[in-house]
Amino acid sequence: MATEQDLMERIVSLAKRRGFIFPSSEIYGGINGFWDYGPLGVALKRNIKEAWWHDVVRCPPPGPDAAPIEMVGLDCSIIMNPKVWEASGHLGGFADPMVTCKDCKRHMRSDQLSMCIIGEVPRIPDQVFDTQMQAIEALNPEPTSEGFMVGPARGPTFGQSVGSDTPTFLVADGVSVEEMQAGLRRRIGSKRAKVVSRGAARFAEDGGKCYFLEFGYNADWTRLNSPDARCPHCGGELTEPRSFNLMLPTNIGAMEDSSSRAYLRPETAQGIFANYMNVLDTSRVKVPFGIAQIGKAFRNEINPRNYTFRSREFEQMEIEFFCHPNDADTWYEYWRDSRFQWYVDHGLKSDKLRLRNHEQDELAHYAVSCADVEYAFPFGTSELEGVANRTDFDLKQHQEASGRDMTYFDDQTKERFIPYVIEPSGGVDRAALAFLCEAYDEDEAPDEKGKMQRRTVLRFHPRFAPVKVAVFPLVRKDGMPEKAREIYMACREQVSAFYDEKGAVGRRYRRQDEAGTPFCVTVDGQTAEDGTVTIRDRDTMVQERIPSDDVAAYVRERLRL
Ligand code: GAP
Repeated sequence: MATEQDLMERIVSLAKRRGFIFPSSEIYGGINGFWDYGPLGVALKRNIKEAWWHDVVRCPPPGPDAAPIEMVGLDCSIIMNPKVWEASGHLGGFADPMVTCKDCKRHMRSDQLSMCIIGEVPRIPDQVFDTQMQAIEALNPEPTSEGFMVGPARGPTFGQSVGSDTPTFLVADGVSVEEMQAGLRRRIGSKRAKVVSRGAARFAEDGGKCYFLEFGYNADWTRLNSPDARCPHCGGELTEPRSFNLMLPTNIGAMEDSSSRAYLRPETAQGIFANYMNVLDTSRVKVPFGIAQIGKAFRNEINPRNYTFRSREFEQMEIEFFCHPNDADTWYEYWRDSRFQWYVDHGLKSDKLRLRNHEQDELAHYAVSCADVEYAFPFGTSELEGVANRTDFDLKQHQEASGRDMTYFDDQTKERFIPYVIEPSGGVDRAALAFLCEAYDEDEAPDEKGKMQRRTVLRFHPRFAPVKVAVFPLVRKDGMPEKAREIYMACREQVSAFYDEKGAVGRRYRRQDEAGTPFCVTVDGQTAEDGTVTIRDRDTMVQERIPSDDVAAYVRERLRL
């Protein structure tokens, strides 16, 4: 069985080999945090975006009272007046405290509290330990295979398998046992889990099991904001913590000074808020209604990692749904549940997908409720999409900063109010990565000589498969290529199709399995006799004969397109 790390490496290698994802500007050594999508990757992303747009803008699920809901689309500029970012709080608050190692020059967040179950112990000892190290030496905890970290509300955290070389550090000062307990319960989803402190060492008790815990700041389990902290990578001296803004600045026009300073948007949401009045005034929508947008966002992430999961340039699919404050809880539940269901319906299996409601102490200052749709990637369980009740925070901020009235007048009730906003905010790249990870599978298939060989296959949901049908001539003679091309031309009018005549037919099947193509059609000697072709199913590998004229209809019907 492949380890999770092996699995991730295989997925990354397949994605490169088959033209899904390439490192950006690879011929110059790449650039950290940026990725390019090749022919299959761009088709996958486009399919995800089209499915999302169809399912939330054109045909959203019926509202809580079973009535159709109103949704419209928007496409805002990436660069906006910087005042937008002042009002939204991004310029002031979208910053992480960072330290830099003076030796190895690595940058690290200094404030992120992490927690790790570093191992199981037979029982919680009565003994008091002065240091974690002393506790480890005395207890020699059995390493668990599911070590993980728990961060505070901001940003995703990643699982990390824990082995004997796990770095260990002193427990963080200033973190109460209650805070640790809340984090632990949140992470392991058990209300009973209890943190027990024995001097500097911390333990957890859950259902009779005892775990040895590690707490620290930042992903490397160390407390980087303490004066005597050293770099966890090389032991070097660290700089003072300083604020690091995640906004990517640029300059507009000829001058390069503060007057020309602008920013690449870090989220698409603010463009929606800035246009909320334009949409209301021009499109006859009435509260409740939603505005949806898909577009690029940029963040100068300090630690881009886990492949495309955390990039510096990525695409978001965001909805801002405007409703009466009294109805906000109902709409929050509507969007939270329907967005979660969307991922389930598209094949993310229940044991890898979960909906995690944020605890009160985890909520951003503007949100009264929030839930994350999380997926168990091979590198850990992390956020795919967040759904938040953002109250009237954003519209109020923009009303105050711009001086424009953001109130809504309900001509039925004669009430004037600032709507509350429910925001489902997902990432296209993270969705693509989750669907890619979920689709990846290995099984066995016979080669040309009937010998079983390992096969790699992407079992994409039919909506997302970049190519729906591939058409081959068995050999390049006897009129087979001409007939196959004719079928291909007829198919591509209706579904995304691919024509291939190079190499042994078995190898052509393998290539399409790796691309996730649900059906392969082969024109052979019998085609000229009775007008039938073979059609092979990617998942079962079963072949049947159908009339060549029926191929497109067969594929559409089977894939329910
Ligand atoms: N408007 C709210 C907002 O932007 P967020 O949680 O910061 O919230 C929303 O981002 C979604 O955007 C995330 O759930 C994730 O899917 C995607 N996302 C955020 N940062 C990302 C990054 N650095 N790389 C890839 N996707 C990212």
